[in-house]
Amino acid sequence: MFLTDSSITTIPLIPCLGSQLKGYLKQQPKSVKCWVRQSDFTAKEGEFCLIPNDKGEIAQVLFGIAKGTEYRWALSALAEKLPLGHYRLQSDWTKDQQQQAAIGWGLACYQFEHYKQSDRIAPSLLLEKKVKRVKAFVAAFTLVRDLVNTPAADMMPQDLAVVAKALSNTFDAKFKQIKGENLLRKNYPCIHAVGRASKHEPRLIRLRWGDTSHPKVSLIGKGVCFDTGGLDLKPSQFMRFMKKDMGGAAHVLGLAQLIMTLNLPIYLDVFISAADNAISNDAFRPGDVLHTRSGKTVEIDNTDAEGRLVLCDALTKAGESNPDLIIDFATLTGAARVAVGTEIPAFFTNNNTLSAEINQASAQAEEVVWQLPMHTPYRPYLDSDIADLLNSSPQGYGGAITAALYLNEFVDEKTSWAHFDMMAWNNRDRPGRPKGGEAMGLLAVFQLLENKYAS
Ligand code: BES
Ligand code: ZN
Ligand code: ZN
Repeated sequence: MFLTDSSITTIPLIPCLGSQLKGYLKQQPKSVKCWVRQSDFTAKEGEFCLIPNDKGEIAQVLFGIAKGTEYRWALSALAEKLPLGHYRLQSDWTKDQQQQAAIGWGLACYQFEHYKQSDRIAPSLLLEKKVKRVKAFVAAFTLVRDLVNTPAADMMPQDLAVVAKALSNTFDAKFKQIKGENLLRKNYPCIHAVGRASKHEPRLIRLRWGDTSHPKVSLIGKGVCFDTGGLDLKPSQFMRFMKKDMGGAAHVLGLAQLIMTLNLPIYLDVFISAADNAISNDAFRPGDVLHTRSGKTVEIDNTDAEGRLVLCDALTKAGESNPDLIIDFATLTGAARVAVGTEIPAFFTNNNTLSAEINQASAQAEEVVWQLPMHTPYRPYLDSDIADLLNSSPQGYGGAITAALYLNEFVDEKTSWAHFDMMAWNNRDRPGRPKGGEAMGLLAVFQLLENKYAS
């Protein structure tokens, strides 16, 4: 995927705008002009042309880019299609644009090979600068994708715990988990209720890292390892990809790995609420009233609105130590996908300054995330006749908002908090972004943390 030894011979990759092609060819020998013309290469985005030397070896690769091209994905199609070999980018792009392009190259080399070996071996790109940073971003995405792509049978709460433990060993972080009946003893009743029907015990996984004198950032991930919907069972077409319902947990693990690799000056407190939303004679039911860690009671309107239940106990716990910032990631609602589609994470926040900071970071990182309103006039939709609140609104409109309003009940208004509701899955193939598990919002949030704490 990458090489860092610049003494190795590499083939130049040369970007070319359609409008630049003529000028470029003017400077080339006749044979090259002729070759490029006969290849029908017009420098459209996505097109490339392998140009041989007189021995018939590839001497250079011309590739088309569009005006306003997204540098991050500019090399991705090449990484997917070029013959095996060593390449380097030859361009007048800025360092940052080159770094983005290298990340996109790395992301395009990703393949999920746990269950079937691919016969494609990725070509390699010479990395000369920011080697650690580029590799760290690619590794974070790889971790998120691998975790989400792994089938539920092999990615249950105990498996998430193994991953978190391994990560804490690598970075000398503290690891802790509370599982099964202990969740009741230690007052995490909702995580327990959602996961109690499964033979794979639910758990709250925690990883802490860094210097305690640094600002504390809590990350919380929804780790529903499989979401059958519970007794409000999902129809098969909606259940098909619910192995991805631990996508929030995968995001906080990927982000934690990135933060620790690049050594951000924060004190990191990661929580993963892990549970298998299964069915058995012991499953929690519609109409049950659960106690939450906060003391509020919640009447179950729908057992398929389980994500907010596992998250609310973790949000309460995270708030107990007054962090500077709480961010949660969750594949929380289908409604967020109706609102902004599958490729844009929706976010909510209780703090206008944080909202502006996220929007700025999103623009800088060139990753779109989109705010939806925490519209408190909808809060009455969660009113229950017999408990403090319902877990879902019986009227279906604004489902992403009512889910965020549910979570908002468990966060002190003085604590800055952002909630990301994302898909964690690519429904289609695009260069560098294969179908399957995907990190979404991770780049914007990492940029936010760097802006806030490391600059
Ligand atoms: N995990 C789902 C949400 C989801 C579904 C995210 C598909 C992305 C794609 C979540 O637990 C869920 O089932 N939510 C319900 C809530 C409803 C019962 C209030 C939903 O969105 O339909
Ligand atoms: Zn659900
Ligand atoms: Zn779910």
